[in-house]
Amino acid sequence: MKTPSFSTSLFFTFLFTLSHSHIDGRFLQCLSLHSLNTNTSIIYTPRNSSFSSILQSSIRNLRFTSTSTPKPLFIITPTQESQIQSILLCSKQNGIQIRTRSGGHDYEGLSYTSQLPFLIIDLVKLSKIKIHVEKRTAWVQSGATIGQLYYEISEKSRTLGFPAGTCPTVGVGGHFSGGGYGNLLRKYGLAADNIIDARLIDVNGKILDRKSMGEDLFWAIRGGGGASFGVITSWKLSLVPVPVNVTVFSIDRTLEQNVTELIHRWQYIGPNLPKDILIGIAIRRVNSTIQASFRTQFLGGVERLVELMEKWFPELGVRREDCIEMSWIQSVLFFGGYSIEESPRVLESRVSLSSLYFKAKSDYVREPIAEHGLEGMWDYLYENEAENALVLFTPYGGRMSEISEFAVPFPHRQGNLYKIQYLNYWEEAGQEVAGRHINWIRSLYNYMAPYVSKGPRAAYMNYRDLDLGVNNSSTTTSYVQARVWGLKYFKNNFNRLVRVKTMVDARNFFRNEQSVPPFST
Ligand SMILES: Cc1cc2nc3c(=O)[nH]c(=O)nc-3n(C[C@H](O)[C@H](O)[C@H](O)COP(=O)(O)OP(=O)(O)OC[C@H]3O[C@@H](n4cnc5c(N)ncnc54)[C@H](O)[C@@H]3O)c2cc1C
Ligand SMILES: *[C@@H]1O[C@H](CO)[C@@H](O)[C@H](O)[C@H]1NC(C)=O
Ligand SMILES: *[C@@H]1O[C@H](CO)[C@@H](O)[C@H](O)[C@H]1NC(C)=O
Ligand SMILES: *[C@@H]1O[C@H](CO)[C@@H](O)[C@H](O)[C@H]1NC(C)=O
Ligand SMILES: *[C@@H]1O[C@H](CO)[C@@H](O)[C@H](O)[C@H]1NC(C)=O
Ligand SMILES: *[C@@H]1O[C@H](CO)[C@@H](O)[C@H](O)[C@H]1NC(C)=O
Ligand SMILES: *[C@@H]1O[C@H](CO)[C@@H](O)[C@H](O)[C@H]1NC(C)=O
Ligand SMILES: *[C@@H]1O[C@H](CO)[C@@H](O)[C@H](O)[C@H]1NC(C)=O
Repeated sequence: MKTPSFSTSLFFTFLFTLSHSHIDGRFLQCLSLHSLNTNTSIIYTPRNSSFSSILQSSIRNLRFTSTSTPKPLFIITPTQESQIQSILLCSKQNGIQIRTRSGGHDYEGLSYTSQLPFLIIDLVKLSKIKIHVEKRTAWVQSGATIGQLYYEISEKSRTLGFPAGTCPTVGVGGHFSGGGYGNLLRKYGLAADNIIDARLIDVNGKILDRKSMGEDLFWAIRGGGGASFGVITSWKLSLVPVPVNVTVFSIDRTLEQNVTELIHRWQYIGPNLPKDILIGIAIRRVNSTIQASFRTQFLGGVERLVELMEKWFPELGVRREDCIEMSWIQSVLFFGGYSIEESPRVLESRVSLSSLYFKAKSDYVREPIAEHGLEGMWDYLYENEAENALVLFTPYGGRMSEISEFAVPFPHRQGNLYKIQYLNYWEEAGQEVAGRHINWIRSLYNYMAPYVSKGPRAAYMNYRDLDLGVNNSSTTTSYVQARVWGLKYFKNNFNRLVRVKTMVDARNFFRNEQSVPPFST
């Protein structure tokens, strides 16, 4: 059909019935003028019956589902890049902020909330994946999830993989542009370290690839956060080799089994193990003890892993029967919370296994923490508000120490033993409950200050935390304010990010509470 995108009557319906009818009408009219391809079945206004369900569809943190959370004027689910060009031009013209959403996993909801009048560009329909086995490359659109990517890779080859996150529903767009790591981190680095090209739509609506955007902008979007620079529509990846079988184990130890000593010991071992092994730790209170799960992936067979554990970490007491050999894609299922007997097809599902209220924070550890320091952390885990709290240790070293801290904006490389992520979950709505649980994590974070990186106290950008830095920056983002969180996430790469931002979006159209500001503001 050659019909124009918006019928006149539809346009007037919007004009007369919406509260923001003025802006809305002008915006829709602008779209219809600009875009040959835009069609109404990709535009949702609050009047569409499916508006709420599409808004909620990828929200992973229930803190941002309340009625008081600001809602967008529109949600648009483009099917073609050209539609995004029009959306950007018309948003700019009408003073509407945009929020780009790929997988919706942002910890602070920045991909679907804003204090200013805004619309969501939801990339869910831009999720094509093309794998090129011989060249070991792939093109993946930003709206795909990493689970979909892993599944597509495994359909083409048992011996190729990609080093990204463990939660299958995480979106490619936010994840890659903020770094992205998983169990292949010590062997191959971050997702962002393995990106070789990208397509981005800039503030002028121009479609750029690596060549036309230039190396500075291409550098910035591999870890500096995509939302500050444009809308990234797709990424070209360099796939990595994985063996026919990998081996995994998950061993639980409690206080009664000397867990504090084990964790203390792990700090000297985890970051120094051969690159093929990653032993992460998940710590929580269980019943009235502290339990740590040592969750391990080894790129090799079970015999070799048992030998290596004997040599490196005999205290853990790994037995052959603790280990399971499986394909790499089954290990993705395992760490994604699925049974390894399930079809890898389940990784295509965008429905997350659980959705809760949560708040998280991150830290980097550069010196081993003494046992009494760890015991102090256990005291926090015994508090009432920590019933569903979780502390995760991810070892660095290996490939992470070989990559220069300036290679991409993600700066946490050599010298870091491991990363900590603190999470607190709760199940009840309401400010009071939220407040108690958020206070808990803030006090734990304060307690940890002496034990973690300083000057700056570093943090992982993909674990976004609005407590870092000064507030209200969505309206008053200034360089001085942004430097506070900017140095934590990016260290000495922050200034280069600001320079790139100034070059490509000097008027700061692409902004949010934690976007990189241009120099002028
Ligand atoms: C359950 C869960 C598990 C996680 N596991 C891991 C893990 O194993 N490893 C890890 O590294 N991280 C993990 N994360 C963090 C995750 O990497 C980040 O939240 C990431 O930013 C999510 O990407 P998204 O596309 O799903 O999020 P979104 O909320 O869609 O986007 C996040 C940010 O990126 C921007 N953005 C998104 N798409 C684009 C685009 N195409 N162009 C420009 N800007 C864009 C958004 O505007 C927003 O600012 C996890 C998060 C959750 C909730
Ligand atoms: C409009 O969008 C729908 C939904 O994505 C799509 O199926 C349809 O082909 C599009 N129509 C036109 C004319 O582009
Ligand atoms: C939203 O509602 C309008 C008016 O009823 C309709 O034309 C449009 O197709 C709807 N959009 C979607 C995405 O369903
Ligand atoms: C814990 O440590 C003590 C003292 O070092 C030791 O005697 C005991 O056997 C250990 N327990 C376990 C389960 O390893
Ligand atoms: C916690 O208690 C439950 C129920 O009694 C029990 O099944 C489980 O093994 C306990 N876990 C630990 C780590 O003690
Ligand atoms: C992979 O692991 C499975 C399960 O242990 C085993 O049957 C198979 O022989 C292994 N394949 C190789 C090539 O080692
Ligand atoms: C920002 O606001 C949050 C709560 O909204 C608060 O906890 C935090 O301390 C504030 N940060 C600064 C630097 O004021
Ligand atoms: C932002 O500023 C407003 C008014 O200046 C204030 O009410 C609000 O608490 C501030 N903080 C946040 C996080 O919005």
